[in-house]
Amino acid sequence: MSAPQRNILVSNALPYANGPIHLGHMLEHIQVDIWVRAMRMAGHEVHFVCADDAHGTSIMLRAEREGITPQALIARVWEEHTRDLRDFGIEHDHYSSTDSAANHALTNRIWNALKADGHTQARPVKQLYDPVKEMFLPDRFIKGECPNCHSKDQYGDACEVCGKTYGPTDLIQPYSVVSGATPIEKESLHFFVKLGDFEPMLKGWLAERRDAGGLQGEVVNKLQEWFTDGLRSWDVSRDAPYFGFEIPGETDKFFYVWVDAPIGYLATFKELCESGRKSGLSAADFDRFTLAGASDTEMVHFIGKDILYFHALFWPAMLYGAGLRTPTAVNVHGFLTVNGAKMSKSRGTFVNARTYLDYLDPDWLRYYFATLLGPTLADVDLDLKTFEERVNSHLVGKWVNLASRCAGFVHTFFHGKLAASLPAMEREKYDSASAKLSACARHYEARDYAAATRLIVEVADTANAYVAEKAPWALAKDESRREELHGVCTLALNYFRLLSIWLSPVVPTIAQRAHAFTGGPAARFADASAPLLGVHIHAFVPLTTRIDPKNIQAMIEASKESLRPAATTAPSATPPSATVKTQPASPNPESRIPNPGLISIDDFAKLDLRIGKVLACEFVEGSDKLLRIDLDAGELGQRQIFSGIRAAYDAPEKLIGRHVVFIANLAPRKMRFGVSQGMILCAGDGGADLFLLDVDTGAKAGMPVK
Ligand code: MSP
Ligand code: ZN
Repeated sequence: MSAPQRNILVSNALPYANGPIHLGHMLEHIQVDIWVRAMRMAGHEVHFVCADDAHGTSIMLRAEREGITPQALIARVWEEHTRDLRDFGIEHDHYSSTDSAANHALTNRIWNALKADGHTQARPVKQLYDPVKEMFLPDRFIKGECPNCHSKDQYGDACEVCGKTYGPTDLIQPYSVVSGATPIEKESLHFFVKLGDFEPMLKGWLAERRDAGGLQGEVVNKLQEWFTDGLRSWDVSRDAPYFGFEIPGETDKFFYVWVDAPIGYLATFKELCESGRKSGLSAADFDRFTLAGASDTEMVHFIGKDILYFHALFWPAMLYGAGLRTPTAVNVHGFLTVNGAKMSKSRGTFVNARTYLDYLDPDWLRYYFATLLGPTLADVDLDLKTFEERVNSHLVGKWVNLASRCAGFVHTFFHGKLAASLPAMEREKYDSASAKLSACARHYEARDYAAATRLIVEVADTANAYVAEKAPWALAKDESRREELHGVCTLALNYFRLLSIWLSPVVPTIAQRAHAFTGGPAARFADASAPLLGVHIHAFVPLTTRIDPKNIQAMIEASKESLRPAATTAPSATPPSATVKTQPASPNPESRIPNPGLISIDDFAKLDLRIGKVLACEFVEGSDKLLRIDLDAGELGQRQIFSGIRAAYDAPEKLIGRHVVFIANLAPRKMRFGVSQGMILCAGDGGADLFLLDVDTGAKAGMPVK
């Protein structure tokens, strides 16, 4: 009996456009993507949207430092983000940007509605101002000495050494991170949303959603604390210069990035509806999913626990105030740690999505995360040893091997055809395994992927025990037992297919290969229960391999902060003693300011920079990022280097004969494609924006560069 079809608009938090996607983001994208795939396989209609969060001071200043427009910066980052997400198998129906015409129009519409109903107000606010840069400073752009423990170079909102929170005016000897100047206090008119107007509605929404399962109990308890002192009005404006949408009717006043960011969920969906790109979805559907009173549709958000305040307080208030529907569910997850600790650039555990993809298979991480994800706010730890062992034992040992051990016999002895029935004695056991797995649908829906994968492993163990007992490799030696062999292999392959179907939301790429091998329907969970009988299977292709721990190690090495390209350096005025922020722990978009660090001439002397002459250069099969280059390195001999410059140099043969600069004493890195023996230097930020350095005529291969 299938449940009635649900129509669900799903989104996850919009990543900031000022940095790369990292594995912390991937925890969320993977969580939501598994949910979307599982709900679709259960027969529901799901529209899945996300976008880059493109506005704010950080992005404005970063573009300025790079000498490009914010639009150029966010366009480049959008390319990188969408490529990373696609390569992880994240299947958004549409991935947009908050800097879009649709979002601008919708933001104005919501603001005007709030204003018309008297939910907004304006009043002067005193704030710290950078007299040199002539801009107001967000808290995170002011540093100084902690008033409590006197540590130097602490941010304007909290001390990272003693943990005390305070306001930027409490800092001793404050300075602007942008220019180094001493900030002054200055008054300016700000605009507010009167959240107090929505207090009764929010209280009701929280209780109702908790009871309906749309908000976790833990979350509601946390949210209820806000109401103790009454809700204060929310400051939603920022003064120019700012990269964002101007407030209609005002001069030099912009919407704070957190106003238009969640509206970006709706604007992205609107673009999808109006694009005609998705069959069954038209412009009229936008209202069906978003107007107040929409009752046959749902709006479901997935977010991290750091941005709860914005999604379960400001966002429902804005929606309600503008006559739009409130969220059906806000599903909150915990944070990713690596090897039991906060991700760290110096330890190499702050891993970018792209770096992971350079060394490891995305489905492996998807599976590992699934085994740990539940419907709670608990943090998830990527323990690299457990990751390796679990993938090797579960995916390869218990699942793939089931097929690899039996497929050959079916081709050798039975023309690739499965038997017409399952062994009679086993049919009941098979059906009960199938019935047991059908509970996975419920677990997926409840975001309890750990429970779903536990069931899958249990059934895999049953199937493997059966194969071990029947030992098809022994049966195959006895010609009189062909029929029995046929039955055993048919059953084992049906177990394999069953597991593949129930695993496919988690490991979609490997499952697709599995499906290509077994054939038969697999788009829905409902297709799982009927076994495949009397049909031909295809040749078995290796579905996935074991993880080579050397690749994990290489990924960590490649993630270590030292020798990072200069693209992530900080505002020039930041004192060198500044601490490095290792993890975006604050919901403030303006909090991600990486710091430079000075090095001594001795540090520089450690680099063995050399001239190399390109002898050969070619595409690398299976990578859309890398080129393989053979360099003549003079007295150092020949070097093979894998270089991530394909997007910028898509005619590799043209590089042959060219001289380049490379680091000759970088520890060799084993990559999926081979060993890379050095690194070629480029200017630029990556993607298509990379420029090899030129050398004047006369320089010879192997010459040192100092
Ligand atoms: N731009 C805002 C969200 C706006 S939504 C209208 C933002 N961006 S973010 O890039 O900092 O984070 C995006 C999502 O990734 C958030 O849900 C955040 O919780 C999540 N994560 C970022 N780092 C994370 C970990 N280390 N672990 C798990 N999730 C993390 O916030
Ligand atoms: Zn302190």
